[in-house]
Amino acid sequence: MLPAIFALLEGRTIDLESTLSHKIRGSANFRLTRLVPTRATTAAKAAPALGESLLSRIGNTPLLRLEKINTQFPSVEILAKAEWHNPGGSVKDRAASRIVGEALRSGKLREGVALLDATSGNTGIAYAMLGAAQKFSVVLCMPANVSPERKKILRAYGAEVVFTAPDEGSDGAIRKAQQMAKAHPKKYFYADQYSNDATWQAHYYGTAEEIWRQTEGRVTHFVATLGTSGTFVGTTRRLKELNPKITCVSLQPDSPFHGLEGLKHMATAMVPRIYDASLADRNLDISTEAAYEAVKRLAREEGLLVGISAGAALVGCEMVARELRGPAVMVTVFPDSADKYLSERFWDE
Ligand SMILES: Cc1ncc(COP(=O)(O)O)c(C=O)c1O
Repeated sequence: MLPAIFALLEGRTIDLESTLSHKIRGSANFRLTRLVPTRATTAAKAAPALGESLLSRIGNTPLLRLEKINTQFPSVEILAKAEWHNPGGSVKDRAASRIVGEALRSGKLREGVALLDATSGNTGIAYAMLGAAQKFSVVLCMPANVSPERKKILRAYGAEVVFTAPDEGSDGAIRKAQQMAKAHPKKYFYADQYSNDATWQAHYYGTAEEIWRQTEGRVTHFVATLGTSGTFVGTTRRLKELNPKITCVSLQPDSPFHGLEGLKHMATAMVPRIYDASLADRNLDISTEAAYEAVKRLAREEGLLVGISAGAALVGCEMVARELRGPAVMVTVFPDSADKYLSERFWDE
């Protein structure tokens, strides 16, 4: 009987009927096999679905230790959430899936209504993936100068794209989406990721809880970049509830004209409604050049092929780590991989 008990403790299924009958007959040869349903249960229950759904793969990303970089800071452990493990390839799957889930539940997104939003890329890719999987149309406003890789990915998923003037940046795309939503309120569900509370809540209920669990509550610092600000705002709100002593640092481009795709220079941009500057213990400005250099270091020293905002995140972590005297467990978010930035010139410089 003992092997059967061990099997159950390990979560394996056993043929209870045959195990018991062996026991009854006093046999020493217990068989550990799959649980065989009786005839009645076979007829009543459908077999559980095999595999995993696409949506269930969003979130719960790995927390990677930056082995080589950490040797510079003996008392600090820098850890990064590897967000390219999301099925759409970026951190934005989290916010987009929560926005879409709430809109489907409330009926704002339904048959005959298309999801509309402004995006510089990753949120659009996430919406396009979800639209294809969950059968709703997606219309995206984005600056015409986004990378060719992004345009191709959106086309591949079958999303419709409205291009806006490159010199107006992501704010031009936001204005266009607002105009379209106002002109056709019945045609579109305007997702408005910059104002939608689901954007930060995805991180409050997801990213923060994951970080807390994956560090066994030992996280002392959280450092993250600002785009919509959803990642920083949602994660910081929850981490500060779990332990008010955690230091939270936000990172922004150091100038309005920058190459940090997905990030906002808050002083000069349209400030997202969900942004709460008071949550940050400090804010650091990051240069595009330093982020490029960090991306190359991550590729060549850690074997991590990450996007430019991940480079900015590493620069911010190193700035904080250099000033620390005592031990620290510092967590950051690497929003996407380098896939969409491989045609950038900085790789060869
Ligand atoms: C590559 C990249 N990094 C960082 C961010 C910023 O994340 P958040 O919008 O949660 O502030 C984004 C947002 O689109 C992004 O696409």
